[in-house]
Amino acid sequence: EKGNYRHFMAKEIHEQPEVVGRTLAAYTDMASGLSRLPDGVDVDWKALSRITITACGTAYYAGLVAKYWFERFARIPVEIDVASEFRYRDAPLDENGLMIVISQSGETADTLAGLRYAKEHGQRVLSVVNVPTSSIARESHAVAQTLAGPEIGVASTKAFTCQLTVLFALALQAGRARGSLSEPNERAMVDALVSVPGLMNEAIRHEAAIKALARDLSKARDVLYLGRGPSYPMALEGALKLKEISYIHAEGYAAGELKHGPIALIDESVPVIVVAPHDEVFEKTISNMQEVAARGGRIILITDQKGAEEAGIETMATIVMPDVAPMVAPILYALPVQMLAYHTAVFMGKDVDQPRNLAKSVTVE
Ligand code: F6R
Repeated sequence: EKGNYRHFMAKEIHEQPEVVGRTLAAYTDMASGLSRLPDGVDVDWKALSRITITACGTAYYAGLVAKYWFERFARIPVEIDVASEFRYRDAPLDENGLMIVISQSGETADTLAGLRYAKEHGQRVLSVVNVPTSSIARESHAVAQTLAGPEIGVASTKAFTCQLTVLFALALQAGRARGSLSEPNERAMVDALVSVPGLMNEAIRHEAAIKALARDLSKARDVLYLGRGPSYPMALEGALKLKEISYIHAEGYAAGELKHGPIALIDESVPVIVVAPHDEVFEKTISNMQEVAARGGRIILITDQKGAEEAGIETMATIVMPDVAPMVAPILYALPVQMLAYHTAVFMGKDVDQPRNLAKSVTVE
């Protein structure tokens, strides 16, 4: 069932324009140009005092991006924690709180335990899951399904971008219900979301250029990923993808944290991957990049045309992504970081679909 692909991971990366398109079609209304929720998913967004998000791994990073969206569009305070921490820390939860649980498999033990804790503490639970028959789906009050289809590769790719798509639509809904997002602004955001699958196809055309970086990256012992704002979780995700399938040590950092420690690591041997669409924090990220360059760091910059023109720094490579509205950029920028990890691991001869020590669904804590 891999079709013409060498690995499920490659197939699933390439399926993203289609499955993100399918998912966004279920969460947007063509006639009005606004977001909508599938039947049965009703949340009283207006009554909420707070949202708590919990998840593990890549699904957790989707939650980190969603925090930006909910805060920006709906002005709701969002708290987020990995499920293995959340479930044990005896967190006080508001009476009018919503718990959003994110999971591809719907069977992750810690995430399920976090869900049960939230329910016991009076939260309404909305889950974003890919498997509608899963334990997490069954135990939630409402389910917002991702329509990624079965994901076989252990490293999550298409489920992640579908999670982001659903979370984006949820945040728009919340913004509308709470009166903090006007209809014209919501329409503009829906337009931006609808543009993503086409832009993903364009991004995939950069695959050869990304593959060409694999040889160089494969020689690294450590790789740093930097990003700011919604690109910070993409730095975390890029680092996770690379380490889990290539076994190269990689860390994602908030770009502004660089000078608080990790800059000590920088020399010619440490590639630094900067995820920086030309958004409102672009200049800040670029000044962090200059600090890296000044210490001999070798930079791979993932940006857009405007970003590439304004960066004004010599990089080892610049991957120029199509222009996209900054708020949806994380959904698009997932692709180059996935492709970079994939090609590096394949170049190194690793088993990308079945990395050592990892299971697709972590049903033990
Ligand atoms: C990373 C990866 C894992 C999962 C995590 C949660 O590529 O796949 O980090 O994201 O184990 O799994 P789900 O989403 O099934 O709860």
